Amino acid sequence: KKKKSFPIPFVDEAERKKRARSETPGSTTNPRNKYSDNPPDFASLASLYPSFKPFVSFSSASSSRPRIDWTDYNATRELTRVLLLHDHSLTWWIPDGQLCPTVPNRSNYIHWINDLLSSPHILPTSSSSSIVKGFDIGTGANCIYPLLGASLFGWSFVGSDVTDVALEWAEKNVRSNPHVSDLIEIRDSREEILVGVVKESETFDFCMCNPPFFETFEEAGLNPKTSCGGTREEMVCDGGEQAFVTRIIQDSAVLKQRFKWYTSMLGKKANLKLLISKLWGVGVTVVKTTEFVQGQTSRWGLAWSFIPPDRKIVAVRTPHVSSKNSLLSFMLEGIKREYSAADVLQSVEGFFKSCGASSKLNSSTFSVDIVASSDQCNTITNRDSSVRSQTLDDGSSLQLPPQDDLSFRILVFQQMPGTLLIKGSLQHKDSPLSGLFSVVFGSLEESLKSKFCR
Ligand SMILES: C[S@@+](CC[C@H](N)C(=O)[O-])C[C@H]1O[C@@H](n2cnc3c(N)ncnc32)[C@H](O)[C@@H]1O
Repeated sequence: KKKKSFPIPFVDEAERKKRARSETPGSTTNPRNKYSDNPPDFASLASLYPSFKPFVSFSSASSSRPRIDWTDYNATRELTRVLLLHDHSLTWWIPDGQLCPTVPNRSNYIHWINDLLSSPHILPTSSSSSIVKGFDIGTGANCIYPLLGASLFGWSFVGSDVTDVALEWAEKNVRSNPHVSDLIEIRDSREEILVGVVKESETFDFCMCNPPFFETFEEAGLNPKTSCGGTREEMVCDGGEQAFVTRIIQDSAVLKQRFKWYTSMLGKKANLKLLISKLWGVGVTVVKTTEFVQGQTSRWGLAWSFIPPDRKIVAVRTPHVSSKNSLLSFMLEGIKREYSAADVLQSVEGFFKSCGASSKLNSSTFSVDIVASSDQCNTITNRDSSVRSQTLDDGSSLQLPPQDDLSFRILVFQQMPGTLLIKGSLQHKDSPLSGLFSVVFGSLEESLKSKFCR
């Protein structure tokens, strides 16, 4: 079943078109990724870098673009080398067979982290350093994330790994780049993930991870269309990515606010649901997800935090919010002659009862008291079963933990014949749920107008 998402608020048409374009094969999703609109120009790279030229085939048809053989490991590695050199001034190499990263794909994740760091959804914390500090779990021999993060944004990094070859080559790749080498430390994580590797006094802005996705090496070799290499140690772990990311979640529950954001990439969308439920189970305050599209391949990004969310921002951004007030009202005008105020009052009670909410009518005060869970509110407003989820401007999705019930009173006032004033008052003033209340109240208005008004 396709997941319904809310309309994306505040996205202008140009941005929408750009996003639609960037989701076509051969491009990337993050609009700030330089490869989003400009896929690598093989002809130009071949003319500038003679070592790359033998891997490029030029077709005689003038309309077709030069190509490389994606199933040739040497070709993909040489492409990564020249892209890192040409676009990022990075000197880079990996030994035969080690996992070869594609630069546009890895750039997507780095740009998403950058978006997260500037996202207003968690309350600011006082950080002692102005330099952003990241932790790359399983940096690999290629050390791609620290190299890209340091060269694109000047971030500092700890990159961890467990194999000798990864630790040796990550270190070599750092030392080959003196302009960023002071920013990157390679650390042996000796089968730990974060706890036991992060030092006592250390805090980080984020961690990131491209985990071993697979449970078996056979599963890892299933994509015959590309050759990115990858050894058993890099691609496989017991229980696959779900087990690996579960270990990150467990460690994050110990380290809590020592990291502002914990993140991981996932190869299988199906793993998101279970991991997100584990996150709520360990008491995170916010979860964000996104999809990275690169050519024919999709990957998913999962981020969470233990820092309190800025509910004001989240509530304001709830779609269709007409008011942040805890007091709302509308007029019912042109009421059909056969209906009285008592009929409207009963209909208000029935409207909320029909979705399972508790609804108590008081005929002397002409009011109905309602208590509705967020799921019941979703039924009322025909929204996705997870009202906590919002699609944000950057295309990613934000979720907040389960919220309390919504308690409010609806009052019906006779204004003049044929006209009623309907008021709604939220029980807890300044509730972060005022956005949701306004959506529910809007649905009630629609229902009463269609039933009672001419
Ligand atoms: C899929 S590779 C990712 C390499 C690189 N970050 C990239 O994106 O191309 C996963 C890496 O995690 C490393 N790894 C496995 N277990 C680990 C652990 N407990 N702590 C740190 N790294 C680990 C593997 O050795 C491997 O280098």
